[in-house]
Amino acid sequence: MDAGFWLSRWEKREIGFHQEDLNRFLKQYWSTLELSKGSTVLVPLCGKSKDMLWLVEQGHHVVGVELSEAAVLEFFEEWKVQPQVDQQGCFTRYSGGNIELLVGDFFALTAEDLQKVVGVYDRAALVALPPDMRGNYANLLAEKLPGSAKTLLITFEYQPGAIKGPPFSIEIDAVKSLFESECAINILDSQAFDFRGIDAIEHTFRLVYL
Ligand SMILES: C[S@@+](CC[C@H](N)C(=O)[O-])C[C@H]1O[C@@H](n2cnc3c(N)ncnc32)[C@H](O)[C@@H]1O
Repeated sequence: MDAGFWLSRWEKREIGFHQEDLNRFLKQYWSTLELSKGSTVLVPLCGKSKDMLWLVEQGHHVVGVELSEAAVLEFFEEWKVQPQVDQQGCFTRYSGGNIELLVGDFFALTAEDLQKVVGVYDRAALVALPPDMRGNYANLLAEKLPGSAKTLLITFEYQPGAIKGPPFSIEIDAVKSLFESECAINILDSQAFDFRGIDAIEHTFRLVYL
């Protein structure tokens, strides 16, 4: 999926992935990461997710990364916070109230951008990427995150080909092969659900970088 695909989704308001309610797996399992208050959490491919507000309520500083400037502007508008805007490398950074959202390409992140990150929340990020981009996603996190960072990762799988992604179906074994050389992996939950009329299973993982 190239940048144009996602920018056009935002422009045409095809944002069915956006949830108004807090993600229930985030609420249920975030504490298993045992991250301290005040620590910094990365939200890759963040859209205008309201889950970021909950992470702030838990005492975290949030760094989100999102291609669409429109999404980031909407996030702050809906939150009724006026962001400060400046430049961080090749990203435009919108910051306010313990959240900074970097507008730009996730794959351009540097170790310096991520130097304070101890936790990662991935909901609808990995599953938004086609198979040929997922290795780069996992490698960037493995190479650029500080050691012993922890991730809460939510994916889902469905009969391959049942719908045209994104979101893409990702099996547990695919998650293992992407992350197991760098992380200890626990499967926290696997729940069946109906996704647009097809049978799907939502998986929640805890990844701890070794
Ligand atoms: C499926 S949506 C999920 C958004 C969010 N995680 C949520 O739960 O609502 C994927 C988002 O990733 C953004 N995106 C896609 N590729 C990206 C990239 N390379 N860098 C930054 N953002 C990207 C898209 O614009 C879109 O908002």
